[in-house]
Amino acid sequence: MEYGFMDKSERLRVLNTLTERLANGTTADAGGIMRVPMSDFTSSQLFAQEQEVFFRNTPLCMGLSSDLPEPSTYWSDNATGIPILMVRDGEGNFRAYANACRHRGSKVVPEGRGSRSRFACPFHAWTYGLDGKLLKVYKEGHFGNVSNRNLGLIALPSAELHGTLWVRPTCGDPIDEDECLSGLQDDLAHWNLSDHPVVGKQVIDTRMNWKLVVDSYGEIYHLNVLHAKTAAKEALGNLQTLDTFDKNLRMVVANQKLNLVRLFMPRMDVWPYRQITSTMYFFYPNVIMLVDTFGVDLLRVFPLEDSPTKSRTIHSWYIHPNVQKHFKTHGMSYEDRLRTFRDAVAKEDYAMGEDVQLNADVGIPSEIFLGRNEGALQHFHNAHRSGIGRDLLPVEDA
Ligand code: FES
Ligand SMILES: [Fe+2]
Repeated sequence: MEYGFMDKSERLRVLNTLTERLANGTTADAGGIMRVPMSDFTSSQLFAQEQEVFFRNTPLCMGLSSDLPEPSTYWSDNATGIPILMVRDGEGNFRAYANACRHRGSKVVPEGRGSRSRFACPFHAWTYGLDGKLLKVYKEGHFGNVSNRNLGLIALPSAELHGTLWVRPTCGDPIDEDECLSGLQDDLAHWNLSDHPVVGKQVIDTRMNWKLVVDSYGEIYHLNVLHAKTAAKEALGNLQTLDTFDKNLRMVVANQKLNLVRLFMPRMDVWPYRQITSTMYFFYPNVIMLVDTFGVDLLRVFPLEDSPTKSRTIHSWYIHPNVQKHFKTHGMSYEDRLRTFRDAVAKEDYAMGEDVQLNADVGIPSEIFLGRNEGALQHFHNAHRSGIGRDLLPVEDA
């Protein structure tokens, strides 16, 4: 297997499609347009359903394997709205628990990550192992004998799938790999995701519906307009491939270097894929993963403060090992790249989204349009609709 790329035939198919579309002035075409009611971004009834289905009962991609880099590491995360404790146990297995003490319900481990083989609750020091078992009850003679009551941490369904970590925030059936990845397994395996160490995390809060945030990453029709002075200097606007994998999808965009490479490198099979493209994945229902020359950026999007009009993006950057060497050799700062990423997203994309939300709040216009060249957005909206049993939006001739 080649290191850190998509499978060769798939890669060539994507590059061929991009270069043909570049030459012809075409792009991925969804076959028609779609109308989305603006109330999808404000309705509290819909939002309650989304919370229940997507953020309580659906397996969510929480991160990459390198978030728990070795045995006996943990990561306590509250992003879903339910405190979750994730660990890699002494044998290297990924496990997840409700971060709730069985004594009086305190959070056993404060938010954060590190290395530990047992967890003592900060309230009365009940202590749990990485396998979730209750190891010790502080002054059990005074408290009462509960050791035969099976009071371990409550396990949540979890799975480590080709370098990605998945957890369902509430108890339920085991996680089904096909349901989570739906055909993306081969792509993920080829990226060698677990070899990309996490080097930065940041949180971006916005006043917009969480689906508007997801939409920000799903089209580049806006690139040469909204990002004329920034990202458009790097990437090629309105040019993309789009492949759907059940509720997930993959969209590949090209950067300006593709123009040079196709002129000077006749053999497409040696083109530096990661330097000339950005490959975007949508992991239903709320995660965007971008793979490019810097490594992997994971954007997990959640509603904030139980509101349909507020959201939180948690950005994690997992660096490509060669880029990490480059950063070290040249004394480059991870913070600078994180800030640049944040500025591009927050000051341009999310600023637009917050304007959309203001209009959505008053219901004007009552519906918005997704173009033939915004097929990923059409897919997001219908994937979310099908997830909660709503009628799908039709694709209309235009
Ligand atoms: S609530 Fe955890 S030990 Fe009491
Ligand atoms: Fe953008």
